[in-house]
Amino acid sequence: MRELGRRLAKLLRAGDLVMLSGELGAGKTTLTRGLGEGLGVRGAVTSPTFVIARVHPSLGDGPPLVHVDAYRLGGGLDEMEDLDLDVSLPESVVVVEWGEGKVEELTEERLQVRIHRAVGDTTDEVRHVTVTGLGERWASADLSALAA
Ligand SMILES: Nc1ncnc2c1ncn2[C@@H]1O[C@H](COP(=O)(O)OP(=O)(O)OP(=O)(O)O)[C@@H](O)[C@H]1O
Ligand SMILES: [Mg+2]
Repeated sequence: MRELGRRLAKLLRAGDLVMLSGELGAGKTTLTRGLGEGLGVRGAVTSPTFVIARVHPSLGDGPPLVHVDAYRLGGGLDEMEDLDLDVSLPESVVVVEWGEGKVEELTEERLQVRIHRAVGDTTDEVRHVTVTGLGERWASADLSALAA
C-alpha cells in the first residue's frame, strides 16, 4: 500500500482530490504515508485521529499534502474552509479518508481509491485496490503506472 502511494504521488498535482475508502484498518493511512513520501512532504503521515485535517508542506516546490479524516466532519468539504488551514485546497493535493457521502457533491473531479481486504482471514495481508478517475481531469489520465 505504501509503494502504491508512492506511485500514485507521481500522477498527482495541485488541486487533485483523492478519496480513500475501505474498512477500518484497510490501509488508507498506509497508502497516504507512501503518498507523502512520493510527494516529498514534511512530517510523518499518521492517522489524524485527534484532528480533522493535517497539512504536510512540501520539502521542495511541490504542492502540500492535506490529509483529512472526514469521519468527524459533519457537513462536507465545505466545512474544511472553516478549519483555518493555512493552505488553499486548490493549491494542494487533498486526500480524504472516510469521505464517502460527504465529498461527492462538492467535487465531480476526483480519484476514487477503494481498498478491499479479504474478510475473515486475519492472516491475509493482501489488499485489492480499485482506482477510478472521475471527471475531466482523469478522463484521459493513464493510470497504468499504478499496476506493477
Ligand atoms: N497489505 C497491507 N496494506 C496496508 N496495511 C497493512 C497491510 N498488511 C497489514 N497492514 C497493517 O494494517 C494496518 C492498516 O492500518 P491503516 O491505518 O493504514 O488503515 P486505515 O484504513 O487508515 O484505518 P482506519 O480506518 O483506522 O483509518 C497497519 O497496521 C498496517 O501495518
Ligand atoms: Mg486511517
